[in-house]
Amino acid sequence: MAWRGGRPLNSVDRRPSTLNRNTSPKMNIRKSEEADFAAMLAIVNDAARAYRGVIPSDRWHEPYMPRDELEGESARGVVFWVAEQEGRMVGVMGIQDKGDVALVRHAYVVPTTQRSGVGTKLLRYVESLVDKPVLIGTWAAASWAIDFYRRNGYAVVSSQDKDRLLRRYWAIPPRQIETSVVLADRRWREAQSSTQS
Ligand SMILES: CC(C)(COP(=O)(O)OP(=O)(O)OC[C@H]1O[C@@H](n2cnc3c(N)ncnc32)[C@H](O)[C@@H]1OP(=O)(O)O)[C@@H](O)C(=O)NCCC(=O)NCCS
Repeated sequence: MAWRGGRPLNSVDRRPSTLNRNTSPKMNIRKSEEADFAAMLAIVNDAARAYRGVIPSDRWHEPYMPRDELEGESARGVVFWVAEQEGRMVGVMGIQDKGDVALVRHAYVVPTTQRSGVGTKLLRYVESLVDKPVLIGTWAAASWAIDFYRRNGYAVVSSQDKDRLLRRYWAIPPRQIETSVVLADRRWREAQSSTQS
């Protein structure tokens, strides 16, 4: 299945997408460039502090995402999109094509801007780029993130499916598999139920 519009996921698209919500400032979503990496890392590492003391302590490290990890993810095909408000970067979200599914990866919003709709707009935007089922992995203990994805139409898959999906589509250590959940969109769930019936 192709990426929507026939545009490869890593092609350069500088078209601004301006999404407004009544009272919130004008928002622009654009594909990240290497020059954005420092600002992106600042957002990721600031927002990831929410995990400290929540996720298992053996999984916490600071900075949560070092630069080489961001570069590695990008090299492995995670395409990062950034949200800007009034010229300031306020959110980051990646999407990764994995053949029969797409993964939403590394979703982070500036802490002082959270719960104002930025994450939802970024999620809707990256979802709109793909024409295939979407999966998301997050920490089982990150209840706010699970809540965020649930209210955006995702559902936590069974523990058995979670193990299978994390092994198949992610490259994470066994301990992270143990302490994570996978959420799937409606398209993935419908495809599963039609295979089972
Ligand atoms: C998860 C995250 C990306 C969502 O982005 P956002 O811009 O805050 O999300 P939205 O404003 O679009 O949606 C808000 C909803 O998400 C959930 N949510 C987000 N942050 C929350 C928090 N700190 N506490 C509780 N619920 C939260 C709630 O359901 C919230 O709705 P509510 O405010 O009506 O209760 C952002 O909160 C974040 O960066 N969190 C820290 C890092 C993280 O957990 N990333 C997920 C990685 S998979």
